[in-house]
Amino acid sequence: MPIIHWTEDLSVGTETIDEDHKVLIGMINKLDDAIKSKEPQGTVNKVLSELLDYTGYHFDREEALMKAANYPDYDAHARTHGTLKAQVADIRNRYERNPDSIHEREVLAFLKNWLTAHILGRDKLYAPFMESRREDVEKANEAFTHESRSKAVSADS
Ligand SMILES: [Fe+2]
Ligand SMILES: [Fe+2]
Repeated sequence: MPIIHWTEDLSVGTETIDEDHKVLIGMINKLDDAIKSKEPQGTVNKVLSELLDYTGYHFDREEALMKAANYPDYDAHARTHGTLKAQVADIRNRYERNPDSIHEREVLAFLKNWLTAHILGRDKLYAPFMESRREDVEKANEAFTHESRSKAVSADS
């Protein structure tokens, strides 16, 4: 049973960001599954690492798009991303060192609240700005996607 569902009221009106949010929700549900079915530490750690990587990727995209939209609250929003990413990294690192040092229920509750509160409370605030600069936002999104693909290719080679 997934612990979070994506519903229309989580939509921020920009398709690629909604898609990212769905991926993050999927990862938190996967983590919940791995913990509940008592998967080995390595598996749980892998899911946490994937979540951390995707969180960074998503925040970078969102920041590029907020910049393109000339979002006036960009700085504060980007700072919140920094804090959230550090919290997820901390959970991952602590789990890696000693799985017994973290309370799984608390971690899942934190991640669930983190995601929904951030999307509903913060991400939604940029929606009208993205809407008013739709073309610039789309261009920035294409550039971001292109750039991260070429990064992935050079990392593979
Ligand atoms: Fe955000
Ligand atoms: Fe977001």
